[in-house]
Amino acid sequence: MFSITDIFAKSYRFLAASSAALIIGMATISSAGAADIATSYNNSCAACHDSGALNAIKKGDSAKWQQLIKQKGMPALVKSVKNGMIQMPAGGLCQDCSDDDYRKLIEYMSK
Ligand code: HEC
Repeated sequence: MFSITDIFAKSYRFLAASSAALIIGMATISSAGAADIATSYNNSCAACHDSGALNAIKKGDSAKWQQLIKQKGMPALVKSVKNGMIQMPAGGLCQDCSDDDYRKLIEYMSK
């Protein structure tokens, strides 16, 4: 059985672990130039595309992503991210993503 203090201790450890992961993630982005797509995703696109905040298409909603990729084409989608859209800030919060990174990030979300 868990006591209340156990639960608090566990969530505190979880919070500490996630902030450490965030700091490591940010360090990776600045030094490795957004080489790791999953890390870039977590540090930028995930803010909206994980939860569907502001009506962003969710990561993993492959039907919707595939339809959009078919309709607009990958180059147009990369351009949307770079220039920003109605609610999406230009660059999608990734400061050092290249066109190729954006393409990989879109593919990553569409799976
Ligand atoms: C602040 C929230 C936010 C962040 C961060 C964000 N997006 Fe978006 N994104 C949106 C929203 C909302 C839409 C739907 C269109 C709109 O309202 O702007 C969207 C739409 C898109 C589209 C469809 C564009 C089109 O032409 O229809 C793509 C592709 C996309 N996002 C990729 C990304 C990528 C890649 C990242 C990370 C580098 C990212 N987004 C980060 C909110 C966000």
